Amino acid sequence: MIKTVGVIGAGTMGNGIAQVFAQSGFSVTLVDVGQPLLDRARATIEKSLGKFVEKGKLSGSDRDAAIGRLRTATSLDELGAADYVVEAIVENAEAKRGLFMSLDAITRPDVILASNTSSISITLLGAATKRPDKVLGMHFMNPVPLMTLVEMIRGQATSAESMRTASDLCTTLGKTPIEAADYPGFIANRILMPMINEAIFAVMEGVGTPEAIDAVMKLGMNHPMGPLTLADFIGLDVCLAILNVLHDGIGDPKYRPCPLLRRMVAAGHLGRKTGRGFYPY
Ligand SMILES: NC(=O)c1ccc[n+]([C@@H]2O[C@H](COP(=O)([O-])OP(=O)(O)OC[C@H]3O[C@@H](n4cnc5c(N)ncnc54)[C@H](O)[C@@H]3O)[C@@H](O)[C@H]2O)c1
Repeated sequence: MIKTVGVIGAGTMGNGIAQVFAQSGFSVTLVDVGQPLLDRARATIEKSLGKFVEKGKLSGSDRDAAIGRLRTATSLDELGAADYVVEAIVENAEAKRGLFMSLDAITRPDVILASNTSSISITLLGAATKRPDKVLGMHFMNPVPLMTLVEMIRGQATSAESMRTASDLCTTLGKTPIEAADYPGFIANRILMPMINEAIFAVMEGVGTPEAIDAVMKLGMNHPMGPLTLADFIGLDVCLAILNVLHDGIGDPKYRPCPLLRRMVAAGHLGRKTGRGFYPY
């Protein structure tokens, strides 16, 4: 029986994931490396829950109960009592492997360890543990409280039972699980990132301004958001990390990250989260 969920990483995704679990009645322990990051995440969650209340989609008492089920911690040792874990730290294979090794030592052996990775091999993460049958991908979409898709990734050694438990959990959260095989970028980013990358090449080559490119895709293709607005929303560092995984893992030059993307990330222009990307915020 899953009652307590550990979420590691309190950034863009981790706070949304913690929120949906808390909203669905689970006790949540949200872990990050520093208290200021956790305080910011809590404020973001409270603001998001407040918007649900304003729109009449959540009662004030349910909001208070959800907030009451959320605790924060700066040490992984607090996850000893967790029944299920979702990791949402930085998109870096070595950092994630190190974390999975620690989680393997800290959590009970029957606990499923899920990763929210956008592109990194689940099989590789599972191999860092003694329970690769209980390691899987649970790829939430941004913003987590609003997006219904969860891409579920089965690693080479992931058991059918673990996949079933995780998929049932998604349904409990009101989400729709869709299974993908463990290939770089899975389904979502294998298709999305080449489009974003191509839009950045188009900016670099002067084919159009960011505004023009986004308008073409919105008005002409009926996309709700242009690819450059979306890239700023995702985080340009995250986009670059995913493209590197696609490029290295598939080996096809069509996934080569655009030099302009590399330059913007090097400059610290990461999109919305730094106040500057293809647009100012
Ligand atoms: N941004 C998106 O739209 C999006 C969508 C789907 C999946 N993802 C994936 O979700 C994950 C997180 O992405 P994000 O955009 O939330 O990143 P982010 O940079 O906003 O947040 C990452 C957080 O992890 C923390 N962290 C780093 N190392 C840690 C460690 N060892 N222990 C505890 N905390 C640690 C950081 O302090 C930071 O607060 C990545 O794997 C990313 O690929 C992102």
